[in-house]
Amino acid sequence: MRTADRSLPLNDGTSLPAIGFGLYKVEPAEVAGVVEGALDAGYRLLDGAAYYGNEAATGAALAESGRRGELRIASKFWGEPEQSFDQVMRDFDRSASELRVEVLDLYLIHWPRPSKGRFVEVWRAFIELQAQGRVRTIGVANFNAHELTRLIDETGVAPALNQVETHPWLPQDELRAFHEAHGIVTQAWSPLGRGALLGDPVIVGLARERGVSPAQVVLRWHLERGGAAVPKSRNPERLRENIDLDGFEFGADALERLATLSRGVRTGTSPADRA
Ligand code: A2P
Repeated sequence: MRTADRSLPLNDGTSLPAIGFGLYKVEPAEVAGVVEGALDAGYRLLDGAAYYGNEAATGAALAESGRRGELRIASKFWGEPEQSFDQVMRDFDRSASELRVEVLDLYLIHWPRPSKGRFVEVWRAFIELQAQGRVRTIGVANFNAHELTRLIDETGVAPALNQVETHPWLPQDELRAFHEAHGIVTQAWSPLGRGALLGDPVIVGLARERGVSPAQVVLRWHLERGGAAVPKSRNPERLRENIDLDGFEFGADALERLATLSRGVRTGTSPADRA
């Protein structure tokens, strides 16, 4: 199977491309070129967020491309200045309008911000948006098992996915087990550890043996574990490489060697820093 055709079933009856393209840090002026390159390479999911500041440019690029129908587009609720039902409705309207979509494919709570104590109320707004048919799939990002449990217990609705930092240095095994028990897909942000892992000798060795790049080894690791990932690259060659993950052997031995790299290292913001 081509990597571009790999998808994961979701607990709401839909499915999601296993590899999406991350729009974090893509400048508005770069968006049109990057989106066209991503579509040409086979990406069918764009992972965006209000916080990334490029939704209007993304909406324009999609309208221009005439290929909106081929694509899933994700956005995220930032949670400032406040986390509340009404703020979700206002922010959603703005994102949908900037992206020029009638129905958003995927909407995520960007951070739980537990010190505000409002994420269950925010989740109720997400459930309402889905009931109104304005969002196809609802999920979260950066939630821990305790926070997910509250959502499920207090609303009866489990998120379809939780997007968290994970890669071989931070495999998140406990959280993944919780996700599996509740039918939640693990979607990785910074699946390449912002590129920091790519010089790791174990990863470089596995790549050399297989005649592929270190990034391809790491992204295949995500897929082999049943996860989804949203790598980002501004480079057209690497962008294609990151969705070409199926032309090489990757057995239990590779997973075992990568399991030795777990060391709890984050390369991005910790949920604790967005309390
Ligand atoms: P570039 O944009 O120059 O390709 P992550 O998605 O984990 O946050 O990682 C993104 C970083 O990894 C970016 O700095 C990106 O740089 C780099 N990167 C993405 N894909 C590859 C690849 N296939 N090979 C090497 N570096 C990559």
